Amino acid sequence: MPPGAPIAMKLPEIRTTILRIKPYVPGKPIEEVQRELGIEDVIKLASNENPLGPSPKGMEALQEAAGRIHIYPDSNCYYLKEALAKHLSVAPEQLIIGNGSDEILKMLGEAFLTPEDEVVLSEHTFSVYQFVARLMGAGEVVVPMKDYTVDLEAMAKAVGPKTKMVFICNPNNPTGTFVGADELDRFLDAVPPGVLVVMDEAYYEYVDDPSYPDTVAMLPSRKNLVILRTFSKIYGLAGLRVGYGIGNPEVIAAINRVREPFNVNSLAQAAAVAALADEEFLQQSRAVNRAGKEFLYQEFERLGLSFLPSQSNFILVDVGMDSQQLMGAMLQRGVIIRAADSFGLPGFIRVTIGREQDNRRFIDALIDVLEKEGGVRL
Ligand SMILES: Cc1ncc(COP(=O)(O)O)c(C=O)c1O
Repeated sequence: MPPGAPIAMKLPEIRTTILRIKPYVPGKPIEEVQRELGIEDVIKLASNENPLGPSPKGMEALQEAAGRIHIYPDSNCYYLKEALAKHLSVAPEQLIIGNGSDEILKMLGEAFLTPEDEVVLSEHTFSVYQFVARLMGAGEVVVPMKDYTVDLEAMAKAVGPKTKMVFICNPNNPTGTFVGADELDRFLDAVPPGVLVVMDEAYYEYVDDPSYPDTVAMLPSRKNLVILRTFSKIYGLAGLRVGYGIGNPEVIAAINRVREPFNVNSLAQAAAVAALADEEFLQQSRAVNRAGKEFLYQEFERLGLSFLPSQSNFILVDVGMDSQQLMGAMLQRGVIIRAADSFGLPGFIRVTIGREQDNRRFIDALIDVLEKEGGVRL
């Protein structure tokens, strides 16, 4: 090689399976949106967070724990598992704690999925299930919905010899619809025990329909069931990243093999223990959500906009115009919402239910946008 010639360097090859993963596209930080628009009070109704803020008890515990962050966190999340075990009437061995339930989904993939396997999931659902399948090189079988609801009968039919895992988001993000206990029982009867059924119940605490399944009670007779819940939604701890899985000890032990030793930080553990006991905050959050939901339903009806009744803290609305355009126009008015295109639902938006003043502001901005840009007279 002549002196001074560049050395041709071949970069390491990446795993071809991950080429199918579309990297997550984050929104701008709220502070940046405020700065760019010159608007002080931008409201974010885009990620289904708790509009009341964090659990006050959780915050207090976090502050108290802050003086010990020079020590590694407890790898086993002993106190959080104890508190959850009591809360749910299960054994600590039935629990796994994650850096958000997202991490538990990833660990489930790492523990169980190979490129020979397939996962079954619904259309119009949470994107991380597809991410997990693609990460592990597993195949995906996407099942159409029925009336914007996860179709368990069709899902059962889609389970085949290669199926290793089924993901059910209940209530479903972004539709807010849910599957009931009887339907789920029939589904679990139909699915072979070698298929892991993952029930993602991130919005569990907001549900008020009595036919919603009590999946924790099903665990003793359903060894292949794993339930995921989170502290990111009603407990208001999304920024700390804590979620948990409940399952049978053998399944939990398998997930535990792929867990990083210190996957849940100490502030998150302390805050989650306290937030779990913050019954007052929970009640208040539920009440605000229920009132906000009723208000938004009435407004959507008044405006002639179709929406799906929700068992969650968000509502999917048919806005009858390009939802990306609507999202951009709402942003200009200081209201951040989510266009549902990425869920395969163009023309729909998903709005998180906020406080009374947030919902009012959202509706006022929506009317303005629909009139000015959607060519609608409201
Ligand atoms: C259905 C569903 N599952 C899981 C998550 C992730 O929760 P976590 O913050 O615990 O990772 C979300 C967050 O939006 C969600 O909507």
